[in-house]
Amino acid sequence: MAIPEKFISELTERSDIVDVVSGYVRLNKRSGANLFGLCPFHSEKTASFSVNRDKQIYHCFGCGKGGGVINFIMEIENLSYPEAIAFLARRAGMQMPEETDSAESRRRARMFNLNRDAARFFYAQLAEPAGEAARAYIAQRGISGAMVKNFGLGAAPDSWDSLRKAMHEKGYTDQDLFDAGLVKRGKNGGFYDAFRNRLMFPVIDVQGRVIGFSGRILSGEGAKYINSPDTLVYDKGRNLFALNLAKKSKSGYIILSEGNIDVVSLHQAGFDSAVASLGTALTAEQARLISRYTNEVVIAYDNDGAGLKAAQKAIGIFEKLDVKVRILRMDGAKDPDEFIKRKGPEAFRKLIEESENQLDYRLGAVLRKYDLTQDEQKVDYVREAGELLAHIPDAVRREIYARRVAETAGVKAEVVANEVERRHRRLLSAGKKEEQRKLTQPERLVQPADRELRYEDPESAVAEEGLIRLLYLEPALIAAPGLPPPEDFSSAALGKIYGVLTGRIRAGGAVGADMLAGELKPGEMDLLVSLLQKPETLSRSRQSAADYIAKIEERKERRQGGTDLRALRDRLRQTKGYEG
Ligand code: CTP
Ligand code: MN
Repeated sequence: MAIPEKFISELTERSDIVDVVSGYVRLNKRSGANLFGLCPFHSEKTASFSVNRDKQIYHCFGCGKGGGVINFIMEIENLSYPEAIAFLARRAGMQMPEETDSAESRRRARMFNLNRDAARFFYAQLAEPAGEAARAYIAQRGISGAMVKNFGLGAAPDSWDSLRKAMHEKGYTDQDLFDAGLVKRGKNGGFYDAFRNRLMFPVIDVQGRVIGFSGRILSGEGAKYINSPDTLVYDKGRNLFALNLAKKSKSGYIILSEGNIDVVSLHQAGFDSAVASLGTALTAEQARLISRYTNEVVIAYDNDGAGLKAAQKAIGIFEKLDVKVRILRMDGAKDPDEFIKRKGPEAFRKLIEESENQLDYRLGAVLRKYDLTQDEQKVDYVREAGELLAHIPDAVRREIYARRVAETAGVKAEVVANEVERRHRRLLSAGKKEEQRKLTQPERLVQPADRELRYEDPESAVAEEGLIRLLYLEPALIAAPGLPPPEDFSSAALGKIYGVLTGRIRAGGAVGADMLAGELKPGEMDLLVSLLQKPETLSRSRQSAADYIAKIEERKERRQGGTDLRALRDRLRQTKGYEG
């Protein structure tokens, strides 16, 4: 590990988790040693996000996310492990140790500076004669001065080397420019600007650093967009255009569109959560990045065959991440920019709101089931439609739809409205009870939040969790007799955690969520923290460890016995038509 452990433990001592989390979450409820607030990682109405000052960990009983203070910063600021450490070090006023200042991080820092200087150069060209064509294009597309500033738009002059010369003056070499994808190498070995005569869009990551560029053609023939190649600081598949702005939006959803112009146009019309992928089809990494900021995505791809196909693919990707997806149908316009220009922002907002309800669709399906000329069927229709409406969280919407159902059925509006409200209240109290149950019985075996980590042998998993918990709380148990190897665990994820944990204890390292964060994947860290929530009495820890170990071994034998039996049966079946 590049960062010395001493530094990390001093850092975590100076970064109290309650203080750090309070910068992002209002912790206004207390229950025992835990403080509670609304989870920043999923949307919820009742607080199930807990922070424990004694253990210096956080855990969400709703979505299952958890970890130490470093994990929290990794998740919420979307940083890597070393970046999160640097972030907390800045906050704590600590100087990062020399070791991390590797040759590579120096090269990265230099590239960030170069990109920022290049963006400034392009921006400044807009005020120069060389920026005339881009200026005219901006005006023609109706992009406001505020948006030019907001996005830091710029002009690449129609010249072979104006950026190159300007950057040389600032002390950058051709190699620097080449590594950043800002110049290309000609046949004769000379270098020339990669972006010429284009409208420039800097790509800025969620930490506000310029990582690359997209250049849109202004006129004539050629590729519509040129994008920076992947570099030391830029990976197209892992970034999104304008996410740096969209992540601050209060709208509750992110709009995904295709073109950079569409994004600018959407922001200008007040839809400040629009982003676009950077000339690639949506990747799983980009979707995961989006899912850190929202659980709802509105897809506003171009209104053509390719757009529709891309949208279908995107739905599949988001579904795996439990992100809700709505797809906009922009009748009479080829893309969001054109739609807004023709019909205005309000029409676009309506489009989003209406696409929201598959409700219309589902109500229609209920209606078709019944013959409303029959009184009995009318009653059933109102009942079933009412059940559907009871799930709408918004009271005004419930009322509006209740009225519509009443009209359809030809009954009094209040009758339906009362029915809907009664059912709604019942759902609410059922939901509360469920949350209460989760909070009061955390020791029950709950399957990991990450579906891929599900336990196949729950009986063994309980013991595996217990053994990990004991070792975490009392590392001296590493000397316990018969400690099983990680392979004996039924759950690969628990085996991995156990392996990392025992490895660290044996190497004499400190044990703590923050120390393990570098070696465990986020889902594994969530799992570790959630199993640490369960109570464990340490008074007879040796006996408990022995019990857990015995259980793990017993289950392992049984699983293996199971496969032997199956193999035997298969063999029998082959030899004499045995029916099992
Ligand atoms: N594209 C790209 N690189 C980008 C952005 C988009 O290669 N940085 C590609 C997309 O993959 C898509 C097309 O360009 O195929 C989208 O273009 P479009 O939506 O038409 O772009 P706009 O900027 O919106 O331009 P216009 O409004 O003129 O259509
Ligand atoms: Mn477009």
